Amino acid sequence: MAHSYEIKVELTKDSQLAKVDFNNLKFGQILSDHMLVADYDDGEWKEVKIVPYANLSLSPATSALHYGQAIFEGIKAYKFEDGRVSIFRPDRNFDRFNKSAVRLEMPEVPREIFMDGLKKLIDIDRSFVPPTTGASLYIRPFMFGTEPALGVHPSKSYKFVIITGPVGAYYNKPLRVKVETYFTRAAAGGVGFSKNAGNYALSLYPTRLAQDEGFDQLIWTDAKEHKYIEEAGTANLVFMLGDTLITPGSETVLQGVTRHSIMDLAKSWGIKTETRDVSVQELIEGIETGKVSEAFAAGTAATLTPISEIGYEGKIYKLSDPATREFSNKVLDYLNQLRYGKVEDPFGWNFIV
Ligand code: COI
Repeated sequence: MAHSYEIKVELTKDSQLAKVDFNNLKFGQILSDHMLVADYDDGEWKEVKIVPYANLSLSPATSALHYGQAIFEGIKAYKFEDGRVSIFRPDRNFDRFNKSAVRLEMPEVPREIFMDGLKKLIDIDRSFVPPTTGASLYIRPFMFGTEPALGVHPSKSYKFVIITGPVGAYYNKPLRVKVETYFTRAAAGGVGFSKNAGNYALSLYPTRLAQDEGFDQLIWTDAKEHKYIEEAGTANLVFMLGDTLITPGSETVLQGVTRHSIMDLAKSWGIKTETRDVSVQELIEGIETGKVSEAFAAGTAATLTPISEIGYEGKIYKLSDPATREFSNKVLDYLNQLRYGKVEDPFGWNFIV
């Protein structure tokens, strides 16, 4: 049975809005005036409140800092020309968030807290949603174990928090990516599908080594043989191979909302789509024979970022000029039109606030 939670609101007396330059936004540097905080203790969600953005006070023994019960989501909201604000498919992030929670032995967050809280928070901070095309409000819901205890066990208490902030592009140029053949992001049976903090922490060292070689990001491969392509860590991967749009289907990859939307759009336009294992060999041969006409990273933060070069075993494989890519440009343009309310929303993806 649905439980109703009262969301208490305390508004800021010190808005930061006037300091925001909406024409010069980077990713994740500016935070909106308010945040939602919900506390879980003794087996139930207690207080839910929207309060001025501020530091949290935590015990140094906070369990998440030691044993990593920490999960998050990434969602975006867009401003329509008529001033309405639309959140893109937050129901999918809500479902994925609770799948991550179950895998990390954390409590699920009720819909009334996640979705109603999200709507109320975005409504309060709607002036932080950029009026500029190409920019959006990034929404970061997260939850972590707060029990001050050093034994290894599921935390007895948790904080669920939502913060938001206006953002520009995460990547502002096509990516040079390297196929990783030694380090592993995720193995079958592990936590690769969940959006937990550890998946990002483990990527930093191998990614930095690749960046030292001049790459922007890694293409992770399977843990067992490093033969099959998985994802880029900051985004999913999608390829146009011949006339088919393909994305890796391993259980270890994050089930991206942007990727899913792009695959659904392609299907609705009559393009063949496949979610299946893609070997590095197949990709490299496809590039060499000209069968791979497009490759891109797809994610909430990354949106759709073209891949221009792939490094594998010391060689560089160049892809087509991103400006000439028919599908990528068409789908990105359509997604933008849909998200900024410039075309009808036949799929019901816009959640209007
Ligand atoms: C997102 O796309 O929202 C993510 O969480 C990925 C992260 C690299 C920002």
